[in-house]
This record gives sequence, structure tokens and C-alpha cells, in this order.
Amino acid sequence: MTAINQYIEANKQRFLDELLELLRIPSVSANPVHAKDMQRMAEATAKSLRDAGADNVEICPTDGYPIVYGEKIIDPSKPTVLVYGHYDVQPAEPLELWTSPAFEPVIRKTEIHPEGAIFARGSCDDKGQFYMHIKALETMLRTNTLPCNVKMMIEGEEEVGSANLGAFVIANREKLACDVILISDTSIIANDQPSIDCGLRGLSYVEVEVTGANRDLHSGVYGGAVANPINILAKMIASLHDERGHITIPGFYDDVQVLSDVERSELNKAPFDLAAYKKDLGIDEIMGEKDFTTIERTGIRPTLDCNGIWGGYTGEGSKTVLPSKAFAKISMRLVPNQESDKTTELFTRYFKSIAPKGVKVEVRPHHGGEPVVTPTDSKAYRAASNAMKETYGKTPVPTRGGGSIPIVALFEKELKVKTVLMGFGLDSDALHSPNEHYGIFNYYQGIKTIPLFFRNFAE
Ligand code: BES
Ligand code: MN
Ligand code: MN
Repeated sequence: MTAINQYIEANKQRFLDELLELLRIPSVSANPVHAKDMQRMAEATAKSLRDAGADNVEICPTDGYPIVYGEKIIDPSKPTVLVYGHYDVQPAEPLELWTSPAFEPVIRKTEIHPEGAIFARGSCDDKGQFYMHIKALETMLRTNTLPCNVKMMIEGEEEVGSANLGAFVIANREKLACDVILISDTSIIANDQPSIDCGLRGLSYVEVEVTGANRDLHSGVYGGAVANPINILAKMIASLHDERGHITIPGFYDDVQVLSDVERSELNKAPFDLAAYKKDLGIDEIMGEKDFTTIERTGIRPTLDCNGIWGGYTGEGSKTVLPSKAFAKISMRLVPNQESDKTTELFTRYFKSIAPKGVKVEVRPHHGGEPVVTPTDSKAYRAASNAMKETYGKTPVPTRGGGSIPIVALFEKELKVKTVLMGFGLDSDALHSPNEHYGIFNYYQGIKTIPLFFRNFAE
């Protein structure tokens, strides 16, 4: 056994206990009632970096939640890896759907995780995954095997759009200078089938408001004679897709990069178990854009989805009311070479144009992000691929991730550095859902694989 694996083996339980402690902090960035918890989480993250042996550990203030930074520079002539992660998590609601409380981690076995999985908000996305890097750093430092320089930045606003990270990156170009960015915040196909995401989708996100009459009305007295904003909003949203599952916004697909048949068949070689997919989700049929596979629908095709819709009376019992207003939150996932701002504009113009007379429509843009594709022919990709091959016994398959990490495109633009997305979670780990979990196997596998990435990359 290598010194690295011996060290991990000897410290296994502590590595797990420390992660459980971090998972007890409800660092929800979306809700200001957790501002103190966010500060506590930043401090705990900084402490864990210091304990691991990082130098120059700082809690860097921003206009929002702070960014935690630490580094180990062993030799300026050696290559530098910048590790990025996020210590904030998604809100845990609806709480009643959790089997055990979201911020009281427990370990339970599941069919997919027979060794046990840690159930807690943030276990997979992204505390469990960024903490693997801190434990890998500790391991490399204690075993004298860190072969190059490492910088770590763990932010606290990823789940709310990283609004203050761009300015931080621009103001700290020198400090963040590096040869590659390494992120563990994505998924692999299965625990016996490693993969590496080579792309992420971008995002355009809007909130819409439809207003009818100047007040809520008696639905008997006025119903049928005055526009009902909920009826109208529902119809407007429904009309954004045609019967083939295409998005109807004019110009929406203009910039979409079309993959060649060869590229598509390459992409579709990744194993995909439709029966397991449906079983995991409890659905009897999948649906989406016609003439594309599930892998393509979530990887290389743009989408439009209503994320929330409200208005009128939703309390107990019934209230006969014709609402004055209806609202919805709508997201569009983007692929190369679509642009977030341009897409938001196309949406806004079209959505307003389809509103019937009798209602007013407002569209308010939220945060967005640009899509990226990361290279598979780089030294860093090969370092990750060979590291995973060593720990999983199988060469990882290149895949396209459906989610978004907007900072990846920004890093490329501002630092001129490419990213490797070496994630260890599973899509079925319920990230953003109730009962989020992270396999104990996945956690240790990450801690073992990361030092191999460093070794391969520094070679
Ligand atoms: N870790 C996810 C992104 C992800 C998950 C990418 C799985 C690929 C596979 C990240 O924390 C996330 O949820 N991002 C948000 C971005 C948004 C808030 C700007 C997303 O994708 O919705
Ligand atoms: Mn994440
Ligand atoms: Mn997330």
C-alpha cells in the first residue's frame, strides 16, 4: 500500500467525522436568516484549511458572503493547481420530505450505496466534494507527496449565482494565477463507471409577473368577463414549447452549436440505463425534445423550464377569487454558443409579445451564466483520467454535464485558464432535493484520486 493510502486508511474515521461537523452548519446562501451560519461556515472552512497545513489562509470579504482562500506554494517554478469549491448549500425546504433532518447528518445504506451514504443538505453539493480536496491536501502534506503548488478558493455564493466572484477574480488575478483549475462539483455515471464532465450548460433565469385587474375580484361577479392572469400565464408558459418539444422563442436556437453525427454518436456511447433512470425517478416514461436522446437532451441541447409558479389563493379550503396577479420563475439552460444576456433579451421580447390585451407583463432578469466546454486533449484532463483509471480500474468516459457552474466560463475569460471537472457524486444523490446524500465510498474514492491527479499533473 502506498504511504498516501496508508495515511487515508489510518485517518478514515476522523475524515468522516470532520465532514459531518461541517454538514451541521446550515450554510444556506439564499436565505438571509442564515447570514451568521454562513460566517460560521466560512470560519470552519478556513480552520480546516489551516489544520490541513495550508498557508496564507484568509477569509476574503466581498459585497456578499466571503471567499475562503488558502495555498501551499512549494516551488514557484512548479505548476500550480487552483481548486475551486463552494461552502454554501441550497435551501433544505420542503423540510417535511426529509427522512432525517437536513442539517443532522446520518449514515444510511441504500441500494446504490451499500457501504452507506451521508444524508444531509450539502453532503454531495458541495461540502462533501470540496472537503475531499482539503483532506487530500492534508494527506499529501503529511506524507510529503505534494508534487506541485496548490491554491484553494471556496466561495459562499455559488448556489445564488456567484454575483461577487467575478469582481474578486478580476481584482486578484495575480493571487489566483495558476496552470489549471480543478473542481469537484459534478457527477460520475455510476460507482462502477467513472466519467468526467467536459462541459456545463449556461443559464438565463427570469421572473415574470402578469397583472390583470387592479385588485383581486369576486370570481362570480367578474369571472368570465375580465382576464384571469393565472389562466393567461399558464397558457403563455405552455406555448413556449411546441408539440415536438422545441422552444418557440424566435432566434432561440440561432447560436446553438450543432454537433456532427460522429460527435453525437461518441457522446451516446456513454452507458445509460433507461430502466434504472426511470426507476430512480419513479416515472413510467421520459419526455423531451424529439429526435434527441436523454444524454443529448441534458448535455448538448438548451432547455426552458418553469421552476415555480404562484398567484391567487393557495391557502386552506377554497376562496372564490379572480387574482390580480400571477408570477413564475423560468430558467433556460444554455449550450455553446448561446449567450445568457442575449437569450434573456430574446425571451423578454417574445414573452411580452404573446401577452393578450387585458394584461400587463413584466419580466425581471435574475443571475445567469455562460456555457463551457472543457478540453479532453490536455495534460490536466489526462492527469484526471489516469488518476480515476487507477482508483476505479476503468478509464472514465467523457460526458457533458447538464448543470451550471457559471464561474468556469468566467475563469477562462479572466484568468485564461481551463478547468477540469473531476466530480465524484452521482446524479441520483438528490442534490437540491430532499434527502440529499453522498456515498461514503465516493468520499474516500475522491480523497484517494485527488493526490494521483496532482502526481500525474506535476509529472
Ligand atoms: N454542483 C452544481 C452544478 C452541477 C451539478 C453541474 C451536477 C453538473 C452536474 C451547482 O452547485 C449548481 O447547482 N449550480 C446551479 C447554478 C446556478 C445557481 C447559477 C445550477 O446548475 O442550477
Ligand atoms: Mn455545486
Ligand atoms: Mn448546487
